[in-house]
Amino acid sequence: MSLHLHDVTVTLGKGESRTTALRKLDVTFRPGVLTALVGPSGSGKSTLLAVAGALLRPDEGQVLLNGADLAALTDRERARARRERIGYMFQSGNLLTGLTAEEQLLAAASLAGRRPRALRPKVRALLDEVGLGHRLAHRPDQLSGGERQRVALARALLVEPELLLVDEPTAAVDRARADDLTALIARTTHEHRCVTVVATHDPVVTNAADTTVDMQTHAPAATA
Ligand SMILES: Nc1ncnc2c1ncn2[C@@H]1O[C@H](COP(=O)(O)OP(=O)(O)OP(=O)(O)O)[C@@H](O)[C@H]1O
Ligand SMILES: [Mg+2]
Repeated sequence: MSLHLHDVTVTLGKGESRTTALRKLDVTFRPGVLTALVGPSGSGKSTLLAVAGALLRPDEGQVLLNGADLAALTDRERARARRERIGYMFQSGNLLTGLTAEEQLLAAASLAGRRPRALRPKVRALLDEVGLGHRLAHRPDQLSGGERQRVALARALLVEPELLLVDEPTAAVDRARADDLTALIARTTHEHRCVTVVATHDPVVTNAADTTVDMQTHAPAATA
């Protein structure tokens, strides 16, 4: 799997809030490589992840997964790619209300066509790895912000995605936890040879990354 964004332009909002979030962005991400996506707040990092994760269509340009344009897929195929091939951790965590930490992962596995029962040990091991082995039965409203994000990261890793998109995984955790999460993401990338893109402001992540993409170099003057 490789990910290539070719001359991608994305405009967001309407009327006065209309913003060019990405302008003719051209960048390639390779398998087995952990890329840190850096750049100032508002430079389009989360937008890039949303486009790469098939959550947002570009106004212009192409998003190529292994050379195949995401835009050429039907809605159904795109949804399937999101469930089965793409692991996505949002900046907000984005968990389902009412499900426990363990159920969040089991539900994602089930949507991806896996047998949840067989995956239960792996679910527990992953939640343990992100430091939440003692929070299996907690629902999102019973977790802290950083804990919610860690559940979301474990959920993204569970299906062993070909494309792993992670938005600021260390923004809401302490230094020791940031080291652990970064090591987990790096190890997953190298072991499963997935394409990994991590948006971050954290030197812990940029230091551990194999390469860095700077939004300011790739999408200069994105905002008017
Ligand atoms: N729905 C929207 N409507 C209009 N403009 C938007 C919308 N969402 C985001 N933007 C703008 O698009 C630009 C890119 O936003 P984006 O969230 O991708 O930045 P970012 O690099 O992830 O920033 P941060 O580091 O703060 O997370 C910003 O200038 C933002 O204000
Ligand atoms: Mg962002």
